Amino acid sequence: MLGGGSDIAAACVAALARNGLDRVVLAARDPEAARRTVASATDAVEIDPVRWDALEVGAIEELWAGTTRAIGTPDLVLCAVGSLGHHAGRGMTPEQVDTMARTNYAAPAAALGYVADRLADDPGTGRCIVVLSSVAGVRPRRSNFVYGSSKAGLDSFAQGLGDALVGTGVRVLVVRPGFVRSSMTVGLDPAPFATDPEVVARAVARAVARERSGVVSVPPVLGPLFGVLRNLPGPLWRRIAGDR
Ligand SMILES: NC(=O)c1ccc[n+]([C@@H]2O[C@H](COP(=O)([O-])OP(=O)(O)OC[C@H]3O[C@@H](n4cnc5c(N)ncnc54)[C@H](OP(=O)(O)O)[C@@H]3O)[C@@H](O)[C@H]2O)c1
Repeated sequence: MLGGGSDIAAACVAALARNGLDRVVLAARDPEAARRTVASATDAVEIDPVRWDALEVGAIEELWAGTTRAIGTPDLVLCAVGSLGHHAGRGMTPEQVDTMARTNYAAPAAALGYVADRLADDPGTGRCIVVLSSVAGVRPRRSNFVYGSSKAGLDSFAQGLGDALVGTGVRVLVVRPGFVRSSMTVGLDPAPFATDPEVVARAVARAVARERSGVVSVPPVLGPLFGVLRNLPGPLWRRIAGDR
């Protein structure tokens, strides 16, 4: 789990454990906190917490070497790294925009590109990369376009990576949740179709079990809905999105 302290990642560990996952490496800036979060979600997995900061781009090599030494090549790599804050629109400093863009796009993309090549070297009977994207990347809003644009970059990267891996035995699943009640959204008004980490996790576990690749929206209604919303004229979209 890249970004192993994430609430959605912890719920995914619990859901995947019900399908047989028995060991997980949590790569997190605060590995002890990540271990506690996952341990509170499930006691069915052995947990290896490891310190890892996605913004230290070269650190993925050491993380990968340590992981494969400990558990061999993982069957599944999930990326939950992300940062929203309570403001992701106008008025951010250049440093804040840069950090948000790197955290949500450049750093996860760098790690996933490396991981994909290593998995393709040893695909076993079929391994999977799960990337937590967001509907915010499908059509960014006035209040979150820095976050939304960086998730759009990661989403596009992950889809292209999935295409590039066809035939290698490694597949990529891009998961686009809407608003999820997690640490990331504490204090924010829930958007329509708001959901919980466990719901996202069940969708992930189901898609992994069915060996799905491509894009999955959670809840599913958001797929066709954002297919329409992304094509609305700007004035209408701004009315619908309001100040959100
Ligand atoms: N919550 C939502 O409404 C929602 C909706 C759609 C998509 N998503 C996506 O789902 C993913 C998980 O989000 P969540 O809701 O579970 O929120 P979360 O609990 O805040 O998880 C985000 C995780 O990213 C980690 N992270 C941030 N910067 C990092 C870095 N430089 N290196 C390593 N890890 C870093 C955070 O670690 P720290 O604990 O150290 O800060 C945190 O554990 C994110 O990619 C998010 O964009 C969330």
